[in-house]
Amino acid sequence: MDLPFVPYRIKVVEHVKNVSPAERAAHLRKAGYNLFSIPSEAIYVDLLTDSGTSAMSDAQWGALVQGDEAYAGSRNYYEFEATIRDLFGYKHVIPTHQGRVAENLLFTTRLKADSVVPNNIHFDTTRANVEHQGALAIDCVIDEGLDPSIELPFKGNMSLDKLGAAYERYGDRIPFVMLTITNNSGGGQPVSLANIRAVSDFCRDKGLPLIFDACRFAENAWFIKRREEGYAEMSIKAIAREIFSLGNGCTMSAKKDALVNIGGFLCLDDDDWAQDITNLLILIEGFRTYGGLAGRDLAAVAQGLREVVDDDYLTYRIGQVQRMGEEMQARGVPIIRPVGGHAVYVDAKSMLPHIPQALFPAQSLACALYLEGGVRGVEIGSLMFAHTDPGTGETIYPAMELVRLAVPRRVYTETHLTYVAEICGRLGERRERLRGLEIEYEAPILRHFTARLRPVDGGPLIEE
Ligand code: F0G
Repeated sequence: MDLPFVPYRIKVVEHVKNVSPAERAAHLRKAGYNLFSIPSEAIYVDLLTDSGTSAMSDAQWGALVQGDEAYAGSRNYYEFEATIRDLFGYKHVIPTHQGRVAENLLFTTRLKADSVVPNNIHFDTTRANVEHQGALAIDCVIDEGLDPSIELPFKGNMSLDKLGAAYERYGDRIPFVMLTITNNSGGGQPVSLANIRAVSDFCRDKGLPLIFDACRFAENAWFIKRREEGYAEMSIKAIAREIFSLGNGCTMSAKKDALVNIGGFLCLDDDDWAQDITNLLILIEGFRTYGGLAGRDLAAVAQGLREVVDDDYLTYRIGQVQRMGEEMQARGVPIIRPVGGHAVYVDAKSMLPHIPQALFPAQSLACALYLEGGVRGVEIGSLMFAHTDPGTGETIYPAMELVRLAVPRRVYTETHLTYVAEICGRLGERRERLRGLEIEYEAPILRHFTARLRPVDGGPLIEE
């Protein structure tokens, strides 16, 4: 049978408004063709991010009413700590309110202005937090991981050659090495255990700690189980433990694979590092047994981590993303191959070759998806990344123009995702009618969040 096994049923539903095309057009104009400015109530299928958008289980909602909201020593903290120790295996467990705070605490205490941090690919907030310390963030993913057309099982792998070259060049300016599982910025691609082991051996040989950016660790473990020889019979939990046994700590956004709407943590083996971080935590986030969260939030994270390592859940969740990708391809929509764990990335450059990068083809496609079908994705292209070379004054454009369609966990049905593929396909048929966009307003940094744009030449976004 081709139908997947769905490992849950629906108990609580959220009403979704049926917003008409005319209303969507008005919203888009008012928002200055920026999807971050559209109210979520005016969206039908929201694929802006898989972060903090999961549906929690009845067991998680149940745990919420059992929150122990003591300032110090909350019962939920001890359960949170025990659950995380059991799965991740590290000695110190430090709660934070989301992933980037875990990064900030680690970087503030361990980096100096001349530090260098290698990663397969730093997620953008991770890179920004490294650079905020004045340090250098370098990406060492294998070359194939940067090519959207190469079909490989573990395109998130780190290149040992690039890592070795970084060590040769920067030596003791490197305080630790990071590995992002799965590699979000490279298309949600997994890292193999063989690669993790090789990176770990390298780090041990050089005396460098290895820290995982573990947001999507369970999805990465599922890919290992399915794609890497020798792991088919192992449980997701056992694979996760093997992954983490090869490192010295992790940063974690619980908004992804802990299936909660807010939360994060940091794990470490080193007593001194943990002490420095705890001291800073108390200064900026809160006491070490709540770290900016309520007791009930810690309970929901612990329960989410027990649920996420279920093979049936992961098979269905990653299967949904894979199927949406296949349905798009069947409709002639160009996407990054292979499809990653949490999102499908549409290649707007090859879909809209008539729109030059200066006129934001991926943003135009993202807006058209909203106009056509109330679908919200996120542009990862020139609006996000084009910048001016300070030397020559020339605009440097990113290599790719993508629209990421990230699938929230346990939220949408097959009908929603087939609908998204259908809308993409319908736009594909009229691709030459899409118009580029020009900027009306932009902020000096991170302009994609607040920019205002309009279709060029005063025409409509999609010509009739
Ligand atoms: N690391 C990775 C790999 C991420 O994908 C994210 C967030 C973070 C760190 C930061 O975690 O949001 O809890 O502070 N990614 C989201 C996304 C925002 O849409 O991909 P956070």
